[in-house]
Amino acid sequence: MNSSPIGVFDSGVGGLSLLRELRRLLPNEDFIYYGDRANAPYGAKTHEEILEISKGIVNVLLSRGAKAIVVACNTATAVAIEPLRAAYEGLPIIGIEPAVKPARVSGCRRVLVLATPVTVSESRFAALLRANSKDNCEFIGVPCHELAFMVESGASSEDIEEYLRSVFAPYRADGFDGIVLGCTHYPLVLDEIKRAAGENVSVFDGSDGTARHTKHLLEELSINSLSRKIGNIEFISSDGSDHLERFYQKISK
Ligand code: DGL
Repeated sequence: MNSSPIGVFDSGVGGLSLLRELRRLLPNEDFIYYGDRANAPYGAKTHEEILEISKGIVNVLLSRGAKAIVVACNTATAVAIEPLRAAYEGLPIIGIEPAVKPARVSGCRRVLVLATPVTVSESRFAALLRANSKDNCEFIGVPCHELAFMVESGASSEDIEEYLRSVFAPYRADGFDGIVLGCTHYPLVLDEIKRAAGENVSVFDGSDGTARHTKHLLEELSINSLSRKIGNIEFISSDGSDHLERFYQKISK
């Protein structure tokens, strides 16, 4: 079990931002990364579709010997994490959620939580925002209809920045001092987000917290790798391309 790989999945390149953190913290683990580019974006799919797709991917990862699953997608986590845990009892399944608590603790007052339309409409998301809307901190869920697709399809920096300016425009009058990245595609355009948001806006990403949680859980269950060698990463793309691998090389330099 200790030497088995960790299965990680997302609709495409987004989850690579989390894989990068996992790899940094767990260099001796083997990973299988499944990017479901044939079905991206998940943010425009129904619950039923996302749940069915997620189960299909977990089955593929299990058939390849995964000892644990990391759902490197906020949308699939919001929709499917509980049903997945119920369907695969005993299998460690870790999800990623928007880093709202770090934003509140840091003293931000008005925070935009950017996510896919599906994530923003989930009760799990609303509950998370409600639970953290205290200590004079207000969270606002902002659905970004285009952003994951733009990142996935390689839109230019200029187009992404322009899109983001239009997303932020309605919140300018009352101002905002924090942004939480509630989709794993968004850390991949961090520079564009920072430029469009302007100075004095702090940006929070949940991938390091999720990677830390994964490490603790593996150790607690005594299924962490005991190897001293640098682990392998295998990439599987449902569209058959080698895009994921190339993208990962680029972002992990
Ligand atoms: N990267 C995903 C997320 O974290 C999904 C984006 C999409 O496919 O719409 O929500």
